[in-house]
Amino acid sequence: MHIPTLDSVRLRLRAFNLSDGTAVERLAGDFAIADTTLTIPHPYPEGAAATWIATHSEWAQCGKRWEWAITERNTGELLGAIGLSQERQHQRGELGYWMGQPFWNQGYTSEAAAAVLRHAFTTLGFNRIFAHHFARNPASGRVMQKIGMRLEGCQRQHIRNRDRFEDLVHYAILREEWSLT
Ligand SMILES: CC(C)(COP(=O)(O)OP(=O)(O)OC[C@H]1O[C@@H](n2cnc3c(N)ncnc32)[C@H](O)[C@@H]1OP(=O)(O)O)[C@@H](O)C(=O)NCCC(=O)NCCS
Repeated sequence: MHIPTLDSVRLRLRAFNLSDGTAVERLAGDFAIADTTLTIPHPYPEGAAATWIATHSEWAQCGKRWEWAITERNTGELLGAIGLSQERQHQRGELGYWMGQPFWNQGYTSEAAAAVLRHAFTTLGFNRIFAHHFARNPASGRVMQKIGMRLEGCQRQHIRNRDRFEDLVHYAILREEWSLT
């Protein structure tokens, strides 16, 4: 399986190129991104983005995970990233994303996430897509609400992150719910 390009009104979601590495390091190197995610290092090591990007085609080929660059459709500017993992046996997957801070609160992540849901339910045959966020990161929860996910609960102090315990809030959407929206 390859990484298909997905278009929405303002965005183009495409596979990352190695040449995106510098922009990824600049945007994701902002502590505001690492602070509310689990897998983004801070400081972001030089060259780490290229190493990360180099794994994407293998992940997609084995159907484990798809990672898209969120770009502005008219200018091609890289704005952020969105990924979807797959657990094939259960026809379910997890959504994760980050958006460069200069582009926050313009609806870009919600628009990108809606495009990925559509692809997952209509083309990949997913039955359930879930996501979670730290309780102190309500903007991410708002993205989940805006794409139709439902709140499933909160695991108190479930994560120890940078020497602090984080409450983890869980959301999900089922295919039968998505098709009603
Ligand atoms: C979470 C994140 C991806 C949101 O990206 P974004 O492109 O700004 O998202 P959108 O603009 O589509 O939606 C954000 C929503 O949150 C709302 N919001 C922003 N700050 C908020 C706050 N403190 N409390 C409540 N809602 C808030 C916005 O108003 C908007 O909702 P609205 O459209 O109803 O007004 C971005 O902030 C980010 O990358 N954060 C760092 C990395 C991260 O946390 N990733 C997610 C890990 S779970």
